[in-house]
Amino acid sequence: MAKTAIITGSSRGIGAAIALRLAKDGFNIAFNDLNMSMFENNDITDKVKALGVEAEIFCADVSKYDQCEQMIKDIKERFGTIDVLINNAGITRDGLMARMSEEQYDMVIAVNQKSVFNMTKLAGNVMIRQKSGKIVSLASVTGLYGNPGQINYAASKGAIIAMTKTAAKELGSRGICVNAVAPGFIHTPMTDKLTEEQRSAMLSRIAMKRYGEPEEIAGVVSFLCSDDASYVTGQVIEISGGLSM
Ligand code: NAI
Repeated sequence: MAKTAIITGSSRGIGAAIALRLAKDGFNIAFNDLNMSMFENNDITDKVKALGVEAEIFCADVSKYDQCEQMIKDIKERFGTIDVLINNAGITRDGLMARMSEEQYDMVIAVNQKSVFNMTKLAGNVMIRQKSGKIVSLASVTGLYGNPGQINYAASKGAIIAMTKTAAKELGSRGICVNAVAPGFIHTPMTDKLTEEQRSAMLSRIAMKRYGEPEEIAGVVSFLCSDDASYVTGQVIEISGGLSM
C-alpha cells in the first residue's frame, strides 16, 4: 500500500513544493489549508495527481484542536495510514515589541505553535499504532537567532525546535522520527510582503548572496522523510544559504 503524507498549509509556497516533491517520491498526498478557495486558480493538486499518486484536500484551521481531530480521522478513513506529517502552516504578524498587540502575539502562537502540538499529538497517535512515521516541522532561522520585529514569530519557531526535540524523545522508541528544518529567506507569498529595505538587509548576510527557492526546502524535507534518514531524529537542519556561520 502506498504511504500517505499530510502537509499543512499546502495550497502554495513551501507547503505546495513539499507536496509535489513527496508525490514524486511516491506518497499519496493529503493537502490541507484553511479553505477550498486557497486551491482555486491553482494547479498544485492536478500536478500531484499527474504523478500517479492519490491526492485529496482536507480543509481545517490547524490552530483548532477539534478541526485537527476531525481532519486526522478523515485522512485515516480515506487513505488508511498516516506515514508522514509535515507541520508547514504558518503566518507572520510582524511589528516591534513596543507596538505589538496582544492579538498579533496570540494569533501567531496559535497558528504556528499550537498547531504543531495539535497535529503532532493526533498524527503521532496514529503513527504509534503503526509503529512507524516521520514528522518534519517548519521552524525558521528566526527561531534559532531571533529577529527584530518578530518576537511572536521567533517565540513560535523557537518553541517548534523545543517541541521537535521533546517529541523525538517521546516517540523514538516507537519507530517515529521527528525533525525540523529552519529555512532562511525563501521566495514565497509570505516573503513577498517584505520591503525592499528588509530584503537587501537580509541578502547582505547570506553567504550564497541569493534567496532560497521552495524546492530547496522540499529536497531536504524529502530526505528526512526517506529511509536514508532512518537514524536521524531530534535534529534541526538550517537551510539558509549560509545565513549564519
Ligand atoms: P505562505 O504564506 O506562502 O504559506 C503558508 C500557508 O499556510 C498558506 O497557504 C496559508 O493559507 C496556510 N495557513 C495559514 N494559517 C493556517 C491555518 N490556521 N490552518 C491551515 N493552514 C494555514 O508561507 P511559506 O513562506 O510557504 O511558509 C511555509 C512555512 O515555512 C511557514 O511555517 C513559515 O513560517 C516557514 N518559513 C518560511 C520562510 C520563508 O522565507 N518563506 C522562512 C522560514 C520559515
